[in-house]
Amino acid sequence: MATTLVFLFTSCLFVKASGTDNLISDEAIAVEFLHNYNEQVIKAFYTGSLAEWKYQTNLTEENKQEMVQADLVYAEFEQAAFRNASRFNVSAFSSEIQRQFRLLMYIGDAALEDKSKLKRLQDVKAELQRLYATTMVCGKPGDEDQSKCYSFDPDIAELFATSRDYSELAWAWVGWHNASGLPLKELYSEFVELNTLAIEANGHTDMLSLWQWIYEVDDLEEQVLEMYDTLKPLYLNLHAYVRRKLIGVYGEDYVNPKGAIPAHLLGNMWAQQWHNVYYLAEPYPGRQPIDITPTLKAEGYTPLQMFQIAEEFFRFLGLLPASEEFWQNSLLVKPDDGREVVCHASAWDFIVGNDVRMKMCTVATMEDFIVIHHEMGHIQYFLQYRDQPFVYKDGANPAFHEAVGDVMALSVSTPEHLYKLGLVDSFENDPENDINFLMKMALQKIAFLPFGLMVDLWRWKVFSGEITPENYNTMWWQLRMQYQGIVPPVERLDEFFDPGAKHHIPANTPYIRYFLSFVIQFQFHKALCIEAGQLDDGKPLHRCDIHKSLKAGKKLADMLKLGKSKPWMDAMEVLTGQRIMDATPLVEYFRPLIDWLEVENEKNGDTLGWDPTWRPPPPQRYTSTGSQIVTSYSLILSVTSWMYFIVQ
Ligand SMILES: *[C@@H]1O[C@H](CO)[C@@H](O)[C@H](O)[C@H]1NC(C)=O
Ligand SMILES: *[C@@H]1O[C@H](CO)[C@@H](O)[C@H](O)[C@H]1NC(C)=O
Ligand SMILES: *[C@@H]1O[C@H](CO)[C@@H](O)[C@H](O)[C@H]1NC(C)=O
Ligand SMILES: *[C@@H]1O[C@H](CO)[C@@H](O)[C@H](O)[C@H]1NC(C)=O
Ligand SMILES: [Zn+2]
Repeated sequence: MATTLVFLFTSCLFVKASGTDNLISDEAIAVEFLHNYNEQVIKAFYTGSLAEWKYQTNLTEENKQEMVQADLVYAEFEQAAFRNASRFNVSAFSSEIQRQFRLLMYIGDAALEDKSKLKRLQDVKAELQRLYATTMVCGKPGDEDQSKCYSFDPDIAELFATSRDYSELAWAWVGWHNASGLPLKELYSEFVELNTLAIEANGHTDMLSLWQWIYEVDDLEEQVLEMYDTLKPLYLNLHAYVRRKLIGVYGEDYVNPKGAIPAHLLGNMWAQQWHNVYYLAEPYPGRQPIDITPTLKAEGYTPLQMFQIAEEFFRFLGLLPASEEFWQNSLLVKPDDGREVVCHASAWDFIVGNDVRMKMCTVATMEDFIVIHHEMGHIQYFLQYRDQPFVYKDGANPAFHEAVGDVMALSVSTPEHLYKLGLVDSFENDPENDINFLMKMALQKIAFLPFGLMVDLWRWKVFSGEITPENYNTMWWQLRMQYQGIVPPVERLDEFFDPGAKHHIPANTPYIRYFLSFVIQFQFHKALCIEAGQLDDGKPLHRCDIHKSLKAGKKLADMLKLGKSKPWMDAMEVLTGQRIMDATPLVEYFRPLIDWLEVENEKNGDTLGWDPTWRPPPPQRYTSTGSQIVTSYSLILSVTSWMYFIVQ
């Protein structure tokens, strides 16, 4: 699914578009139309994607103009296809043909009839992304040159991963939130207004109801809240444990044993994944290492080698090899020829032949090694459903697409597998090593859950009108407090716009897919482990490695091949035998750690949860000349390309 596109569909358009009552109800003509459409759309899509690729891998004004032009051409094609499809009365067609029509008639914002409003909506979207992508934080206290500026990647991200200086982190946190969020506030509320018009013009009441249509369920919010209820005890235990460890570093004045955790101390700008603070949370220090970064660096692994290792894992399961075009056309390292490129890792499906590609500025770290597996999961999905009609070339639902590569990574990151790969030099199955390993995983997977949930809880309320521009920020922090137990380092009143400091808000990228992916990937993992016979002798789920299991690979491929041709419940059933998204395999995976945490937290007299009224004291030195936006290039992510991003 195009991550930047909001899909729209209307049931009343048949009437509107025809203007006559002689709609075509001959199914043979409809089949012929779909056939022609598929031939044409592939060409149109390819041209558009190519222009987009060219821009993102070489950010020049000329390439941007070409891309915008190509976008317009593609939009016109989509509108034409929509008009043509509207001439049919589909109500007596087979459900299969009806499904194709329904998906084909997703044409996004183009359904907005008022051309000036449509144009304004496109401009606002582009401007939101440009502002975000070009944000810099300037005037770091202690810098001799106070006009020196820092971009998020790599400077601010690196600082967050490594610094333990409370005030320095607070400066970076506030600087980033001031500089990226604030300038977007007015534009964002205009975007909400315009986008709401587009949604309404298509017969949906708000964004949530639109997304429910995409997910083919009518209770998406209830489903995710219910899943979170199952998972909440895991988070509360992890939260309490990490809070105690942070007190060890920063002291009780700054981290209150009964308070929420200051948002800037968890190794990540959004406190969304906490693996960067593993060093302080390690349950049993001095045990076997689980970080492969030192080996990757010491032995000089190249990005290409890292990709080859990942690709081999897929192949050994009997899945499809990456295509020749993949190896030829992908951009795997940041170019050193002076080009500016969008480094955010993404996987691309050009639809034509086997032209699939990756764009990633890979470095030799464990984090990137895992990201490679995530993105290769998208590539595998693309290749598996390549014979489907265009409208079915998509994940069963958006979370499925995000989960595939992560499932592979669950096997690959087991200490035993890393040992087999020669990436760690010792390996021993014992309970203490297990707890260390599960802690590392929990800091990525469990820590993420409340954030993955609250982003869209906020966005759905914004689009339903329950949250208004006057309380964007207050409600954002209310939800972050409620779900994450996170408090900003300084007071953030409603003059600010902190949601805008997260890429997926200005980019309008749906987020709940990541929450759901983190849940269902364990469901997939368990089903594949059973298929691989890994759990037969009572092996715990977290030690399972499906390496070289052709049976598991076949089962996965059977699901992936379906693409979006069936509702996701059918695809889920092929792999897991279940027709629901189920959080219990995630709980099972982390069971040993949960038990351990409960004991540990009780021993320390920690109470789970937090007092929402506690606030941290102001950071000690806190001087800054303020921040500014520096425009180095324009970034417009257009609607044409099928790109898949990572969660960051
Ligand atoms: C980048 O694009 C420009 C055109 O805007 C072109 O002249 C240049 O050769 C391209 N650079 C590379 C490395 O492709
Ligand atoms: C729409 O119909 C016209 C007229 O039949 C045809 O020329 C055109 O190729 C069709 N376009 C699409 C995208 O279906
Ligand atoms: C579509 O066809 C059905 C019969 O298959 C008919 O009842 C209905 O009135 C038609 N709708 C339109 C808008 O022509
Ligand atoms: C953030 O904005 C506030 C209000 O404008 C200002 O007082 C503060 O100094 C800014 N902080 C940074 C680090 O930019
Ligand atoms: Zn992804």
